[in-house]
Amino acid sequence: MCGIVGYIGSKNATSVILTGLKRLEYRGYDSAGIALANGSLTVCKKAGKVVELEKAVKAAQLRGTLGIGHTRWATHGAPNDVNAHPHTDMENTIALVHNGIIENYAAIKQRLQKQGYVFRSETDTEVLTMFIHSFYTKTKNLEEAVRLALCEVEGAFGIAVVSTLEPNVLIGARRGSPLLVGVGEGENFLASDASAILQHTRNVIYLQDDEMAILTKDGYTTKTIDNETTDSIIHEVEFDLESIEKGGFDHFMLKEIHEQPRTFKDCFRGRLLASEGTVRLGGLNPVLDKLRRAQRIIFTACGTSWHSALVGEYIIEQLAGIPVEVEYASEFRYRNPVITPDDVVIAISQSGETADTLAAIKEAKLKGATAIGLVNVVGSSIARETDAGIYLHAGPEIGVASTKAFTSQLAAIMLVALYLGRTRRLSQRDGMEIAQAIERVPEQIQAILDHSSQIQSIAKKYAKAQNFLYLGRGYHFPVALEGALKLKEISYIHAEGYPAAEMKHGPIALIDENMPVVCIATQDEIYDKVLSNIQEVRARNGKIIAIATEGDTRIAEFAEHVITIPNTLPMLTPVLSVIPLQLLAYYVAVERGCNVDMPRNLAKSVTVE
Ligand code: AGP
Ligand code: GLU
Repeated sequence: MCGIVGYIGSKNATSVILTGLKRLEYRGYDSAGIALANGSLTVCKKAGKVVELEKAVKAAQLRGTLGIGHTRWATHGAPNDVNAHPHTDMENTIALVHNGIIENYAAIKQRLQKQGYVFRSETDTEVLTMFIHSFYTKTKNLEEAVRLALCEVEGAFGIAVVSTLEPNVLIGARRGSPLLVGVGEGENFLASDASAILQHTRNVIYLQDDEMAILTKDGYTTKTIDNETTDSIIHEVEFDLESIEKGGFDHFMLKEIHEQPRTFKDCFRGRLLASEGTVRLGGLNPVLDKLRRAQRIIFTACGTSWHSALVGEYIIEQLAGIPVEVEYASEFRYRNPVITPDDVVIAISQSGETADTLAAIKEAKLKGATAIGLVNVVGSSIARETDAGIYLHAGPEIGVASTKAFTSQLAAIMLVALYLGRTRRLSQRDGMEIAQAIERVPEQIQAILDHSSQIQSIAKKYAKAQNFLYLGRGYHFPVALEGALKLKEISYIHAEGYPAAEMKHGPIALIDENMPVVCIATQDEIYDKVLSNIQEVRARNGKIIAIATEGDTRIAEFAEHVITIPNTLPMLTPVLSVIPLQLLAYYVAVERGCNVDMPRNLAKSVTVE
């Protein structure tokens, strides 16, 4: 959700923190703030983006070698200066930044108010700050005060805390929300995401739930909030600085769309055994037996990842004949789902930190199911909570609207489906045909990207539309949902995705000459049916933008615009048909002057339930 950076060392903490916050800004951009704690506490915080903070920091000439910073995605209280983090106690002794939600904040606040504490903001975070302070006055030891407070806190937190009375210590802790320690030489860091500190160190320790880190300039210790020392393993971050920069593109989203030929390949590289028509999935070794014997697969995910799960349902049922269900993670845990130990639950998540998905996985495991993760971020909470998994290897996705992660998720799903298919009813010949088709996909994606300018001109034409409809059947229904979500997220145009044939049961009432309707009509067994649906739109003067298979000569008759994609197996077409929809959303948003990479109200990873 939000971004956290903490620094202790000998460099200018302000610039380390500001640079880190800029890298994390995609995680939340309602406000930003920084606190330095050498000698006295200096806090600077501003509503809006990190550039606003930067201006204020320059004017205030903040200097120091110990500090914490934050970019906020508001949950409790409006996104204004007062609610911005860091929060401090009334005496300006400690400062704290927080990612997550303190669920029992109201009860704690009441207790503290009775003791005379006065609150300035509406946030749950200020309550936690004062709560820690209430212990600090007794213990005179920041580490102990943080620990004691956290023992009583319910909810999710990633926090970084400093005190003017202890200018040689930086404290971090987490539960639910991500936090890692960056291990440097003569300096150490805290960050909610490795990209914030990558230019200083590649060595990181991912904190576990209910674990604290106590950092000094020259060392660190980790312990549980129950006061037991923990072993910390140092991991090396795999991606490099280049992968978190725009590399000549106007936006991260456009860069990420264009990375897809490579990222799709990176997911199946070394895993797809084309000559045997099967796959090797080392990450699933611990659960292969369970997976082979699975009576049912349940996908759970949110947003775009939920859309790829829907595609997964079609593919796995088709190739392996195993019943598949797809659940919104946010609904799953609250409706007492029937789960048995023969079920395999697959969580799909780009960030690996989505709180709803994490909670769903915990629930499924509690009920005895085997849990697998298809996750992009290495070392993330979902990756660690699951019994086994497949990393997507898509590299950092910075644009808030997910693009390359979606196609990589489809690649990972194909691998799982192929594995399950081959262990059940799929012949080697069919397996080989699928594997060869997968290998051709990267160049087919590239071919679509090479025609971006056509999509850009269509986008110009419809950028002022107030509504869009997206229609698709079969494998393309989830793609229609995804196309609509992309447009909504970044251009703020109301858009709906519908199964093409369902349109006549209601949404058809919306169609008039002002309604652009994006129809995915590739050549497969339901092509003719989709053409009929297109005719129904035409008859009501809707404007058809068709996504069709290269060489289709019929469709131009029915559509205002035809965007073609190369021919592949029906189950692989979503990977191709989604590309024009990503580009369409992107160019429409640019045309409307929207902030593509940081759309309003959104955050890259949603670490609250
Ligand atoms: C996609 O464009 C979204 N911003 C959002 O729906 C996202 O897919 C969802 O929050 C799930 O995130 P995850 O994949 O990191 O779990
Ligand atoms: N709940 C806190 C707030 O609203 C933290 C939000 C965040 O994770 O950015 O300020």
